[in-house]
Amino acid sequence: MAANKKQSQLDKETLIIIVVLCVAFFWTVNRILSSDDSKQEVVDKSNVETSENATKKKKVNKANIPLATGKEPIDKIFIQSGCAVCHIIPGILVAKGREGPKLELGTNAPKRLADPNYRGTAQTEWEYVQESILNPGVYIVEGYRDRVMPRWYGQKLSARALDKIIKYLLKIEEVS
Ligand code: HEC
Repeated sequence: MAANKKQSQLDKETLIIIVVLCVAFFWTVNRILSSDDSKQEVVDKSNVETSENATKKKKVNKANIPLATGKEPIDKIFIQSGCAVCHIIPGILVAKGREGPKLELGTNAPKRLADPNYRGTAQTEWEYVQESILNPGVYIVEGYRDRVMPRWYGQKLSARALDKIIKYLLKIEEVS
């Protein structure tokens, strides 16, 4: 009888140990799963933040645009000046903006000059591109709005940077 009692006590102890182990096991699993969840939340939050940043960056703000000296490579000028935010510029991978027309001035500058609605003062294609950067309000490309393209690029582009831009843009022809 005494041995039997001892035996059943042992069984009880084993049972308790098993239960405790089970509880500990599920608790650990639960902890791991929930810590994964919270990590996931952090990742999600940072995604939201970066996309918020991206939309904030989309606003081309005069105060944030540095002066381009013209010593920079052309892609850097287009990116740092914000052109890439609003324009598709062939050859510049990140320039995928849709606010303004695709910049294919090799094809389009002559078309603008020939447009009966053209009211600017440019006589040559070079002058047209220069005018549309320094004084965008003079002629608005059909289908686009005035006052979207900033009017202060004269203060942010050195003569050398402007020349580099115009030279680049006039080489781009429409691929059809
Ligand atoms: C906030 C948006 C925005 C930014 C930034 C911007 N542009 Fe524009 N751009 C436009 C819009 C909109 C038009 C069309 C309306 C017009 O003609 O002004 C335009 C028109 C032009 C045109 C005339 C295109 C054509 O087919 O006749 C040129 C050239 C041009 N932009 C160059 C640039 C360059 C170079 C930069 C950077 C130094 C720049 N833009 C920055 C919005 C922008």
